[in-house]
Amino acid sequence: MPFLRSAFIALSRNRLLRHFGERSTLGVKLSSRFVAGMEIEDALRVAEAVNRQGMSVSLDSLGESVTSEAEAHTAAEVYHRLLDAIAERRLNANVSVKLTQLGLLLSPDMAEGIAANLVQHARSVDNFVRIDMEDSSLTQVTLDIVRRLHARPGLRGAVGTVIQSYLYRSQADVEQLLADGVRIRLCKGAYKEPPEVAFPKKPDVDSNYVRLTHMLLDSPVYHGLATHDEHMIAAAKEFAAQHQVDPSRYEFQMLFGVRRDLQRQLLKQGHNVRVYVPFGHEWYPYFMRRLAERPANVFFLAKNLLRK
Ligand code: FDA
Repeated sequence: MPFLRSAFIALSRNRLLRHFGERSTLGVKLSSRFVAGMEIEDALRVAEAVNRQGMSVSLDSLGESVTSEAEAHTAAEVYHRLLDAIAERRLNANVSVKLTQLGLLLSPDMAEGIAANLVQHARSVDNFVRIDMEDSSLTQVTLDIVRRLHARPGLRGAVGTVIQSYLYRSQADVEQLLADGVRIRLCKGAYKEPPEVAFPKKPDVDSNYVRLTHMLLDSPVYHGLATHDEHMIAAAKEFAAQHQVDPSRYEFQMLFGVRRDLQRQLLKQGHNVRVYVPFGHEWYPYFMRRLAERPANVFFLAKNLLRK
């Protein structure tokens, strides 16, 4: 299976396939397994439905690695519209954004400025911006930007980020973010990383996830545990029970279309659950990373297509 994971991650970076995939009717149909739709209105409708079931949402306008300043501003505009729509419709939702979508690879200063406007907007409507984590070449710059935004007057708590348990550095990063009081989403990590920076073996990634979960649950800040892994969830619940951490002090997070049974089960048990709802035309890299996580998804998709 590690071979298939690497193959799908390599495919996620293929520009030609991305170009054709995102424009094909078949591609759009396949992507609907993990993507809420192509337009803002699709995402808002899904968010309303998820809220009605009792779960909160994080809206992700898909896109990454923009190649011009104009594209970065266009991407940010979608997020400004989302923040307004969330407030108008009183949705229980925040937004998740990638800094490369805001131009990080073109100019870190520009991306930071655009992100600052977004976080400012979020604060003005009592909302929150989660900065997603991308590959390890961007970890340091992403954390630096998030920490500076969090430290700006008036923005404290309106921005948070993501830590990946497959990176060796993550424990030190968690310590620093906790010292600053930054909200963290903990995940395992979705990119292909070399053994110089990341644990090559899954059991080590999992042990680190549990270790970092304990650190998050021990802190007074509200964090998110993003995983579909029942062992990780059980470990979190066990620690919370042993240390009298009330379930209102943290949340579980899962991806749209993944383990809906587990989402409902956690909700029933009295846990906060947030669903990450991606939407938009640039679904290809996101979709390929979801196949990399569980290559068996390919067979499900093929079976569903044949059924139609
Ligand atoms: P793991 O991969 O070990 O899977 C455990 C079990 O979960 C599988 O056996 C299967 O049953 C189920 N499962 C997992 N993925 C599935 C899928 N795609 N389809 C069907 N079943 C699946 N990564 C990152 O690098 N940066 C980020 O910012 C984020 N953000 C983020 C937000 C949220 C809300 C979630 C849930 C995840 C992320 N991720 C992420 C992705 C994350 O790093 C990781 O790749 C996936 O969550 C898969 O890891 P699990 O913890 O689910 O465990």
